[in-house]
Formats: sequence, C-alpha cells, structure tokens
Amino acid sequence: MSDKRIVVLISGSGSNLQAIIDHLAQGNIPGRISAVISNKADAYGLTRATNAGIETRVLSHREFADREHFDTALQELIDSFEPDLVVLAGFMRILTPEFVRHYAGRLFNIHPSLLPKYKGLHTHQRAIDAGDREHGCTVHFVTEELDGGPLIVQAPVAIEPGDDADSLQQRVHSLEHRIYPLAVEWFCRDRLALRAGSVHLDGTALPASGFRYTE
Ligand code: GRF
Repeated sequence: MSDKRIVVLISGSGSNLQAIIDHLAQGNIPGRISAVISNKADAYGLTRATNAGIETRVLSHREFADREHFDTALQELIDSFEPDLVVLAGFMRILTPEFVRHYAGRLFNIHPSLLPKYKGLHTHQRAIDAGDREHGCTVHFVTEELDGGPLIVQAPVAIEPGDDADSLQQRVHSLEHRIYPLAVEWFCRDRLALRAGSVHLDGTALPASGFRYTE
C-alpha cells in the first residue's frame, strides 16, 4: 500500500492538525501530509506545520473578487500536491458546490456537535440552551450541504450541570483530537469507503450516525 497524500486546510490554531501530525508520526500509518494550506497568513497552524517539516502555503480569500474565483485557485493549489485526501481542520470558509464535488469521497470535515444536530456556529451554547444531556463532535465526508454529508465517526460527551460553553468546548476539543486522527488513519489504511452515500468501515455499512467512539 503506497502512502496516501493528504492536504490539510486550516484558518486558525490547528490543534486538530497537530493531533493528525502526531498520530501519523507515531505509527506505521501509510499516509503523510503533503501540505498545509491556510487562508490566513497568521494562522498558528502554519507554525505547527513548519515545525513538523511540512510544506505550507497561504492563499488569502481577500485577494479574489468572489468565492468562485477563490475556490478555483484553491482547488488548483490543492491539486498541485495530488492529494488522495483533503482534510478541513478549522477552515472557516464556505466552499462552492463545484469545489466540494471535485473532492467527493475524499474530503473530510470535523464539526463540534453530534450532527445532524447544531450545524453552523455556537454549537456548545446551543446544546446547553436546549437542555441536552449529551453533546460531542463528528467527522464527516463533505457534501454540498453545509455541515451535511455522510457521518464517519462521532464522539459523545456528557453535559454536566455546571457546564458552560467554554468548559464543554474543552472536553469536545480533546475528543476531536482523538477521532480526527482515527478517521484519517482509517482512510489511509483503505478501511473507509463511501458507497451510494453510505459510509462503510471494513466492508460493513456504518449506521447513519457513524461509528460511535467511546474512550
Ligand atoms: C474545531 O472546533 C473544529 O471542530 C472546527 O474548528 C475548530 C478548529 O480547531 N471545525 P483547531 O484549529 O483544530 O484547534
């Protein structure tokens, strides 16, 4: 099995990027990050990538007239690295349908909720306000629907009585750092497949909520 080439897109801190870097460095996982691309020049994740000896690129959306032109340039930049997998790790841009279709079946995102609940922003506060007893995070294949797409793996977190958005976010974030590397590893080992819109792991269809990860 030859190494899968991975391109990671970020806009900020890149703690999920770091978790993936660390995981790939640990084991005999047949994958490597070919490049980290940020739409923000000051994203700390670029420093993390450089420290790990990974190539970085910055492509600012501000230099483009509209979303279509930015996404076309982004796609060209990504494709220059010939990736098998593109990983959105805190990339704070809405992507055009053309871009998403181009990477069908090889584009991952992580979202801080138990999808399909709480698409969009402020997920932790929304879960608390709704009186939910459980919250969490999800890795999913990206489709044209924002925070939609077939679910790969979810990690639940219990909401405790004294939780606020910050305390909950911390626990969710540390689980993100578990499940994102896991999903990337599955992909690199050819254990994941998307067939007719449903995710298969080791040849067996997962439930619509994906694999349920518990510690
Ligand atoms: C995470 O909360 C992730 O769920 C969301 O963006 C955030 C990225 O965090 N999509 P980091 O940059 O990986 O620390």
